[in-house]
Amino acid sequence: MSPAALATMQEEVKALARERDAVILAHNYQVPEIQDVADYVGDSLGLSRQAAATEASAIVFCGVHFMAETAAILSPEKTVLIPDLDAGCSLAASITADQLRAWKAENPGAIVVSYVNTTAEVKAETDYCCTSGNAKAVIEAIPADQEILFLPDLYLGLWLERVTGRKLRIWMGECHVHAGIRPADIVRWQDEAPDAELLVHPECGCASQCMAFGNERTHILSTEGMVNFAKASPKKRFLVATEVGILHRLAKEAPGKRFEPVSEDALCRYMKMITLEKLRDSLRDWKHAVTVPEEVAARARLAIERMVAIA
Ligand code: 13P
Ligand code: SF4
Repeated sequence: MSPAALATMQEEVKALARERDAVILAHNYQVPEIQDVADYVGDSLGLSRQAAATEASAIVFCGVHFMAETAAILSPEKTVLIPDLDAGCSLAASITADQLRAWKAENPGAIVVSYVNTTAEVKAETDYCCTSGNAKAVIEAIPADQEILFLPDLYLGLWLERVTGRKLRIWMGECHVHAGIRPADIVRWQDEAPDAELLVHPECGCASQCMAFGNERTHILSTEGMVNFAKASPKKRFLVATEVGILHRLAKEAPGKRFEPVSEDALCRYMKMITLEKLRDSLRDWKHAVTVPEEVAARARLAIERMVAIA
């Protein structure tokens, strides 16, 4: 699309959103042209908080399906739209509600902590949800002698064991995008860019190993944590181990600093299913509504509200 056509479509999207009293929420992994028209761009935690707080009558969620479902659970009186219903998440697909019920039955009395990357049905079987932005605080809010089932991300679970000193029972799920960022990518970085700070998402396959390096220039952060860190840091060069969509946000929020991906291949095809055209169509044709049956939503809501409340 030419720059002029892009600008025209972005204006059309903004006008439709105003007309329809819709707020556009976009995840940090969205394509630049979506981030640039969104009312709010952020990580899973920030987006959930915005969804709960917005006064608009509709939310158009530019992200993946579980994020739109979470918004629908938090704001049941609002219309929640997603521009492409096929925008799923391989991590959320790694555990079903039946599998979780069976795991709970094998571990009676255990508290269930689910990463927000799960379906509404799984959240309905959950005691506490968390995101990468507050997972440590959520685990620390649970009494130390309480057994915890943590799901579905293996690497986030291993990282949490390291930073909290707690033993968790961990589900063996993974995000194919982050699991694909390997320790070898980090080792190469240590040799090639000794002046750079390394920002690593805890879903990465290398996150536990990064901690083992004990390097004070390595920081394990949520996507929003990366933005805040880069803005506040006096350093000029950063290597980024997460989905490459974050690079647009980083460059925008911390101008004059240099951001490079640890792996160019770290691209989530689900996040990239949302295009500006689909966002325009979503607002114009009022599609695709994401709803959660109230019986499921009512059970999931407490776990999500706990997540939103814990900093
Ligand atoms: P954040 O909550 O850190 O934005 O991560 C969401 C996600 O899907 C990571 O892949
Ligand atoms: Fe899911 Fe991974 Fe994509 Fe995040 S990057 S939405 S965890 S598949």
